[in-house]
Amino acid sequence: MCGIVAYLGNREASPVLIKGLQRLEYRGYDSAGIAVIEDSLEVYKKKGKVKELEDLIQKENLTGTIGIGHTRWATHGEPNDVNAHPHYSSNKKLALIHNGIIENYAAIKKDLISKGHEFQSETDSEVFIHFVEDIQKHNECTLEEAVRIALTKVVGAYAIVIISQDNPNQLIAARKGSPLVIGIGANNEEFFLASDATPIIEYTKDVVYLNDEEIAIINRNGNISIKNIEDIAQNPYIQTLDMELEAIEKGGYDYFMLKEIFEQPRSVADCMRGRLVSNKDHAALGGIRKHVDDLVNANRIIIVACGTSWHAGLVAEYVIEELTRTPVEVEYASEFRYRNPIINKGDVLLAISQSGETADTLAAIEMAKAKGAVILGICNVVGSSIARASDEGAYTHAGPEIGVASTKAFTAQLTVLNILALMLARHKKTLSDNQFKELTEEMESIPGKIQEVLDLNGQIEEISKLYKDAKNFLYLGRGYNFPVALEGALKLKEISYIHAEGYPAAEMKHGPIALIDKEMPVVVIATRDSSYDKIVSNIQEVKARKGKVIAIVTKGDALIPKMVDHVIEVPSCHETIMPLISVIPLQLLSFHIAVMRGCNVDQPRNLAKSVTVE
Ligand code: F6R
Repeated sequence: MCGIVAYLGNREASPVLIKGLQRLEYRGYDSAGIAVIEDSLEVYKKKGKVKELEDLIQKENLTGTIGIGHTRWATHGEPNDVNAHPHYSSNKKLALIHNGIIENYAAIKKDLISKGHEFQSETDSEVFIHFVEDIQKHNECTLEEAVRIALTKVVGAYAIVIISQDNPNQLIAARKGSPLVIGIGANNEEFFLASDATPIIEYTKDVVYLNDEEIAIINRNGNISIKNIEDIAQNPYIQTLDMELEAIEKGGYDYFMLKEIFEQPRSVADCMRGRLVSNKDHAALGGIRKHVDDLVNANRIIIVACGTSWHAGLVAEYVIEELTRTPVEVEYASEFRYRNPIINKGDVLLAISQSGETADTLAAIEMAKAKGAVILGICNVVGSSIARASDEGAYTHAGPEIGVASTKAFTAQLTVLNILALMLARHKKTLSDNQFKELTEEMESIPGKIQEVLDLNGQIEEISKLYKDAKNFLYLGRGYNFPVALEGALKLKEISYIHAEGYPAAEMKHGPIALIDKEMPVVVIATRDSSYDKIVSNIQEVKARKGKVIAIVTKGDALIPKMVDHVIEVPSCHETIMPLISVIPLQLLSFHIAVMRGCNVDQPRNLAKSVTVE
């Protein structure tokens, strides 16, 4: 949610900032802006995509080797030119970019207005930079000190970068609850700051992830100092990024989402590498070593997540309970954190998040930690806040996911969760050697099976043509495929704006069946598993009411094809692993329908990739 970028060095700042904003646009795309200093501090901002901003500044001859940039996902104030960042202080000598929310901004604003401050925008962020200006004026202190004092007084989340016309050789940055990465160029001659590493990797791989309540003061002479909010110096920990530029480019595809869907045979294989080896009876997650006993002895595993990651959690509930007999509960992080849940010693909290920055999931972790639970994180983004807030965890290694609709991260989450279940089952001896071997071999076959489904892309595109104008869709599944139905419906609604609902198939007769008529496409995930006969009956119930059925079936199914309108055949596999395969046609279906409807699949309206506000 909101992407921020900043540069200080010897290059022209504006091209670096614009390119950085393009890389971060998936985080928000309501409006964008930059500020650069040459002789004076100039701000340019525009409602709409980064492209609009680029067109605006093309007419200007922008020079300056220090600057900041922002791409916005609106929280306070509608998306327009004025509410876009950067924001000036009253004297226009300071400019700020901010990702997050200043919760007590109204009280601060009221006080500043009484002191004569005038505000241009409706944002909480503009209040912050006026606040800093006010503190500096009244305390006659340095900008660094004013920022520090202001941060001790605000409530909320922030990643900020501030520049000052009076000192065009310095960037001041800080974070709490919103991510901020500092890239350090060769010989400390240039610095790149951003919400994530994607704008940085083409310049340098040496980075420092700022921690919560840390302030970085970066000077053109190469001096970077990091202090905490109590003004105590911290040792910057310089890490090397493990990411290649190709991973964040479209690589010949027209859309990131399509590229990411097609990457899944590789991303699932990458996720399994070294963790699962069937002929060595091996299933382990290197990142979860110290807490294996806690997992084995857990009274209960509580899974918290949001959106697609929550769907992965639902699958995991079925798999972990089946394979290990450990009770599992799955909670929306946003509900869990506000309902005073019972957490006992001996409970393990598993937080699942692609971005590792989701505010509700992070807050759920903090709450469970305070109540004594062991926290294990399953994240895709290395070094993310959730990864760092967890006691231990496992990365999904899917590589950067840029398309706003999650695809390869979901299958990578399922992969890690299956490995975790197998590892736990091995320790608890709840699976026989033969069962363990069968399942690990099945897991190893998944990349090839996903490829087989991807080869059906043309067929799925043809089916999509027939339903692209539908007003509603229903998705039904049972057992392990019930969360897949939820995920299919979410994928369709978020990128094509068609209303879609996912249901456990048997629940249909308790209400949703009333919706079914000849206009209603119903996607039924009906692969061969323990609930096969039941779902066949559910299909009959839909057909009896003239619904159009698109069935996802196991290859070779002779019964269902005779009953339904369209069949998509997927390779057979063990039911606990099937969601890794059965979700693929649903991703492709929603992708094609969205493209045919002219929607921007990579940047759907109103959404942002990383939800850093609650
Ligand atoms: C849907 C989607 C979202 C995310 C949700 C949680 O395609 O991407 O529903 O799954 O916002 O995000 P993470 O996994 O980053 O915590």
